[in-house]
Amino acid sequence: MVTSRPFTLLQLSDSHLSADPAASYRGQNADANLLRLLPACRLLAPDGLVLSGDVAEDASTEAYERAGRMLDDLAPRTAWIPGNHDDRAVMEPIFDRLGYQAGPVLEWGGWQIVLLDSAVPNRPEGHLDDSRLAPLDELAPERPALVFVHHQPLSVGSPWIDKYPLTEPARLWARLNATTVKIVAFGHVHQAFSGEQDGIPCRSAPSTVANGQPGTARFTYDPTGPKARWYRLWPDGRWRTGIVSAG
Ligand SMILES: [Fe+2]
Ligand SMILES: [Fe+2]
Repeated sequence: MVTSRPFTLLQLSDSHLSADPAASYRGQNADANLLRLLPACRLLAPDGLVLSGDVAEDASTEAYERAGRMLDDLAPRTAWIPGNHDDRAVMEPIFDRLGYQAGPVLEWGGWQIVLLDSAVPNRPEGHLDDSRLAPLDELAPERPALVFVHHQPLSVGSPWIDKYPLTEPARLWARLNATTVKIVAFGHVHQAFSGEQDGIPCRSAPSTVANGQPGTARFTYDPTGPKARWYRLWPDGRWRTGIVSAG
């Protein structure tokens, strides 16, 4: 029997770059921490890269240009969704020009990668209305799917960020019934989270700039540094995931 090679997907989240490359974010420098993480990411030899929102802290052209150029040789395929700190109207033309895809459904390694935009202008919490959920109705029934959304669709046990969740998450979960969605992946929570809802595994990617210690009422800086999440996806629906650190 031939065992096909898995597709390696790297999820980078919450980079929070600013127009000023020297700006501080939660006492850290966003550019320096992202650059510090990249050698470990390259060792994974990712086939695809997904930026899961809050690429920029200030939604500036300069931040998106810099992020795009820093990351576009990391993987042959690149994609993005916006976060609450992003501005889709600023981000989209830059990432389009740099060859990043916005989906909403991509075919990577025999999987359907679903990119859902949960960002609401000028609001920290997220929402998915019917039009933003519509890509889930187009999924092919015979191929596994991985959903990316910026905001957490379930509590992660950290009150400081759980007050800004995906609102009305039942709208999402109801749509996932009878689909081939095997994982719901998100960012926004600035920590590595692992849980399950309605039988579907849920995983977050930690931030590439500053993470919080899990289970704390207030953001409490995690000194273990910048991190990202990787997935290995087999076309038959098997998958594995883990965290990569700057080391
Ligand atoms: Fe963030
Ligand atoms: Fe966010």
